[in-house]
Amino acid sequence: MDYKNHFEQIVKTQQARVQRLKNDTGAVDYQKLDKIIIGVIGGDGIGPAITAHAQRVLETLLADDVAQGKVEFRTIEGLTIENRSACGQAIPDDVLEEIKACNVLLKGPTTTPRKGDKWGNIESANVAMRKALDLFANVRPVRIPEQGIDWTFFRENTECLYAMGSQGIDIDEDLAFDFRVITTPGTERIARLAYDYARANHKDRVTIVTKANIVKTTDGKFLDICQKIGKEYPEITTDDWYIDIMTAKLVDEKRRNQFQVIVLPNLYGDILTDEAAELQGGVGTAGSANIGNHYAMFEAIHGSAPRMVQEGRDKYADPCSVIRAGAMLLSHIGYQEEADKLNRAIDACAEEKKLVLTGRSDGATGAEYADYILSKI
Ligand code: IPM
Ligand code: MG
Repeated sequence: MDYKNHFEQIVKTQQARVQRLKNDTGAVDYQKLDKIIIGVIGGDGIGPAITAHAQRVLETLLADDVAQGKVEFRTIEGLTIENRSACGQAIPDDVLEEIKACNVLLKGPTTTPRKGDKWGNIESANVAMRKALDLFANVRPVRIPEQGIDWTFFRENTECLYAMGSQGIDIDEDLAFDFRVITTPGTERIARLAYDYARANHKDRVTIVTKANIVKTTDGKFLDICQKIGKEYPEITTDDWYIDIMTAKLVDEKRRNQFQVIVLPNLYGDILTDEAAELQGGVGTAGSANIGNHYAMFEAIHGSAPRMVQEGRDKYADPCSVIRAGAMLLSHIGYQEEADKLNRAIDACAEEKKLVLTGRSDGATGAEYADYILSKI
């Protein structure tokens, strides 16, 4: 194994990336676009069914602007596991082209093949999309109002162990390395987004999570930069925790409602947001935003539930998390009032329980539930 050359290539690729990040000037202003194009990607399994309900809800809320041509919905086919596997690509080229012609995306779950299964060795469509569209922030809210919990996680989405997850090396049969990358511009932009969010939403605390006592170089850098950015926001208190004790604190009922905005590198964010979502009622209940300067993608964080489809139960699948993701999309493109209305309607239905979803024929269908939500708007 020519590891010196391999490492040199990795360094060069990341240096070029850093340069691109430095040259990337500012985020798109959706208010200034003549038309906002919303791409709807059904994905796999129950995805097409639940995203169709979410699309219908959004189309109802945006009906006037759709009629005036200010907003357009576009259905994007082809991001199914069958097609991805047949093309041997995480996102087939023609699908990526269609995606890039949109401004924002609403996405259903996409199956990530495992090593050795029938789909072959293709990269996760999620990870590929985050890279292709440079969706650097994974924003995941978790709310448990009755316990005073209102957390918003800002998970860095393009660096850490994810950036080169397929570029590790086996030096020989006994020795293996993976590579972890943290960059200055990559950390600055996620930190700024987190602090800007805190400021705009009157939060007075931002928590940085790392393992900088052990992973000194990369986590040390992440922590330093976040703290430096934090100084630009004097009204906000910054604290920092190590990932192990932070994981414990999320189940500490006396302490956990003190956390508000949490900013952290990719892998810690992956893990901690699953834990947080579980406390809220399961990963199926959480919506998730993937935000970049030029694109943004909103999705449910649960899987594609292929068994429900095999058993003909996809029409009973719960569309709430992707509808929640739709509310995040509305807020991101400047329709805050509509987003608030939608969130209130989802909450009202969950509280009133006139219809319940069980995933089976003894419960409501996704279509009926979407109508129920619409009836509360
Ligand atoms: C998530 C998921 C993805 C990730 C998988 C599907 C690649 O767990 O969005 O949190 O690890 O980021
Ligand atoms: Mg995850």
